[in-house]
Parts: sequence; C-alpha cells; structure tokens
Amino acid sequence: MTRRDFITKASVMGAGLYASPILMRAAGKEVGANDKIRVGLIGCKGMGFSDLSAFLGNPEVECIALADIDQEVLDSRAAETEKIQGKKVQFLYKDWRKLIDNKDVDVVIVGTPDHWHCLQLVAACEAGKDVYCEKPLGNSIEECNIMVRAAQKYNRVVQVGQWQRSDPHWQDAVNFVHSGKLGKIRTIRVFSYQGWCPSIPVLPDEEVPAGVDYDMWLGPAPKRPFNRNRFHFTFRWFWDYAGGLMTDWGVHLLDYALYGMNVTAPQTIMASGGKFGYPDDACETPDLLQTVYTFGGFTVLWDHAIGINDGAYGRTHGVAFVGENGTLVVDRGGWEVIPEDVSGTKRMEAIEHHPSYGGGGLNLHVKNHLECIKSRNRACNASIEIGAHIAKFSQLGNIAYRTGKKLTWDGKSFHDPEADQYLCKTYREPWKLPKI
Ligand SMILES: NC(=O)c1ccc[n+]([C@@H]2O[C@H](COP(=O)([O-])OP(=O)(O)OC[C@H]3O[C@@H](n4cnc5c(N)ncnc54)[C@H](O)[C@@H]3O)[C@@H](O)[C@H]2O)c1
Repeated sequence: MTRRDFITKASVMGAGLYASPILMRAAGKEVGANDKIRVGLIGCKGMGFSDLSAFLGNPEVECIALADIDQEVLDSRAAETEKIQGKKVQFLYKDWRKLIDNKDVDVVIVGTPDHWHCLQLVAACEAGKDVYCEKPLGNSIEECNIMVRAAQKYNRVVQVGQWQRSDPHWQDAVNFVHSGKLGKIRTIRVFSYQGWCPSIPVLPDEEVPAGVDYDMWLGPAPKRPFNRNRFHFTFRWFWDYAGGLMTDWGVHLLDYALYGMNVTAPQTIMASGGKFGYPDDACETPDLLQTVYTFGGFTVLWDHAIGINDGAYGRTHGVAFVGENGTLVVDRGGWEVIPEDVSGTKRMEAIEHHPSYGGGGLNLHVKNHLECIKSRNRACNASIEIGAHIAKFSQLGNIAYRTGKKLTWDGKSFHDPEADQYLCKTYREPWKLPKI
C-alpha cells in the first residue's frame, strides 16, 4: 500500500464515506495472494455470469452475493455458482441496492442491460467498491461523463468489459500498425456482420412473467407494458435501453481503430442505414448501418449488418488498417497482412495469419482487474476512461444516424439542438441521473 493510497483512504474515511473493505484489510499490510476477494454480481443471465465465471477461475475470488430481478435466473445462477465454487452463495437479492449496501462485498460486477450501468456503477463507487462494468460503459454521453467522475472521485479501480484490450494478439497487431510498414493509412474499415442474429417478429405485450420485478428491470427507462422482445438479450435493439450494434460491437472494434491510429476525436461524423434486412420486425435500431468518421488525412468507416455474415476479407467482424503498402486485418481469431498488389508489383511481403494465443481474453482481462485491485492501480487495461471514450465515440455514430446530419463534435456539444438532445436521457422517477 502506497503512502498516497493511505492518504486517500484516510481522507475517504474522514469524509464519512464508505471505506473499501479491501483497503481496510490492506491498512496494516499488502493485500496478500491468499486474501479472499469477495465478489457480488448484479445482472446474472448472460455476460454477467460469464464474467463471474472468469472471476471464479482465480483461487482468491469468492462470490458471496447475486442480484437479479428475475427469480428464475437468480435461482439457477445461484445453483451454478455453488457448483463452481463448492460453496453456497450467501446472499441472493432481487433488489440490487441491497448488494451495494452489503459491506462484505469488495467488487461489484455490473452485468445488467446498458440503461442500468450508470446508476449501479456510481452507487458501487460511492459505497467504496471496485467495479467490473460491462460495455458499453454508459447509455448516453452524459452518463459516461458522470461515471468517470464517480470512479475518480471515490478512487475506485474499474475495468470495463472490453476484454479484447487484454487479448495479446490485438496488441501485436497494433504494434505492427505503429511500425509504419503499412505506409500511409488512408482508411480503417471496422465491420461487424452478425449472421446468426435472427429477425425479431413483432409480439403483443403480455402479463409480466411470474417472479420478474419488471419495474426494477425498466428502472430509469420509460414505463411501458411488458413485451418479451424488449427484455432479456434483445433489449439491445431498442433505443430506450441500448444502442444496437453500433454501440454493442462498436465499442470493442472501434476502440482498436483509434488505438492503432493514436487518435481520439473525429472532425466530422455522418451515418446512413436502416432496417433493410428485416423492415417489418420489432427492432428499432438499424440492421444495416455505415458510419463515416473523418479525421485529418484518413477516415474510420464503421459497417454493420444483422442476418448476413460476409463482412470483409472473408470475415464476419474485424478491423482493417488500409495502408498504401498493405492492409492489416485483425479479428478475434488473429491477424494478417495483405500486401497491396498494383500492376503486378507487391508493395510489401504478405504476413501469414497469426492466430490468437488462445489464452482467453476474458480470463486475462479479469486477471488484470484483480492485479490492479490488489495494487490499487486505476490504469486497468480497459480503464473507465478508455471505456467512456469509446462508448461516447460509438454513440456519436448513432446520433448522426438518428439526425441524418453530418455532425461536428467539440467534445461537449454538436452545437446543433437536434443532435444535442441525444446527449442525455431523461430518467423516469424516482430514479435520478446521479450528480457527481
Ligand atoms: N463484453 C462482452 O463481450 C459482452 C458480451 C455480451 C453482452 N455484453 C454486455 O453485457 C450487458 C448485459 O447483456 P446480456 O446480453 O448479458 O443481457 P441479458 O438480458 O442476458 O442479462 C441481463 C441480466 O440483468 C438482469 N437485470 C436487469 N435489470 C436488473 C436490475 N435492475 N437489477 C438486477 N438485475 C437486473 C436481467 O434480469 C438479466 O438477468 C450489456 O451491457 C451487454 O452489452 C458484453
């Protein structure tokens, strides 16, 4: 424990705020490899449970609490967790706020739909807990700003679920891009084609299923009757809760485009697309979208489709740095370089496919978070600052699509009232946008 950490701890405690149980345990000594890290998961059905399983792959981790609004999910995940760790989960909650109030929880995993991330992450930070928060970090640009301020104010160690940041072959690919061998890069094609995603036929509203606290699922989102299409998993295709593929996959892949090019803010953004594959189904977000971000001297092109697989370079998804000597393509499976062949002359050697190392990006990402928690290092591989930046960048694409305008962005405002209305979402009472 550094002197700075000790002072921070002292000032947090002096301010009458919650003190981190890990910091308290560390007050007299370094957090040892044998100290248990007690984890609580909010939102247990999909990715949240994959995250928890990765945490439980580490012997120092114990899951002591689960929270979910769906009793069936809560019960089945409690049974599975007991099987994995050989120990009962002590606390099961339908109201996530009780998990936050539980002083024995050190680390909170936020695995809920996007519209909940801000409230739950901020509450966890205020309670002195470290957080593993699923991506995209926030559901609006303003939420992302608030979340960063909360983590900084309470000095919490936050990892955002962009696990490709910990998968080493992505770093190898970026290192190659940074070597300059591709020549001048003119465009970065970033594509996500999700052939396996089916059409979501329109369904009538229905009674809330037994055991589901639907009002707590909606939370800050507008009140409306229960509809299965807008619930588990498929919520991501509705604007009230998420941002479609542009944010869902955008944050993973666009992050590497910006990292590869060492840039942050675009000069202009424009987007076009629609419901071209499934025009009459229930989804609100576009099943085909192209967004063009213009930087000085190159563009970043986002291209997504649902229901078809042929993205580019024989891949369903990837990031392609298109240089004057050749193109480097990287996806979750590995990376390669395809030389430019102009008039029969190759401008560089091809680089055969380098497969991923197969170590499991998610497991490595969680390990990185645990190491940062122990050393009180806020600079995780996908820190909250990185997660917030790319969530906002992806949201710029959706705002350009929804307004149909070519936008400019100064980091705070589009200086266009129609676009600026998307910067923040109105919260349904009694939920309030946190003030930090
Ligand atoms: N990092 C990745 O690779 C990756 C992959 C998939 C999903 N995700 C992200 O994970 C998040 C969840 O997506 P999913 O597909 O797992 O969704 P899901 O619908 O399968 O699971 C969400 C769970 O949260 C629960 N929940 C909702 N509101 C709650 C509340 N107020 N309190 C407690 N529980 C609540 C639901 O009942 C459900 O069990 C999303 O933000 C998504 O973008 C990340």
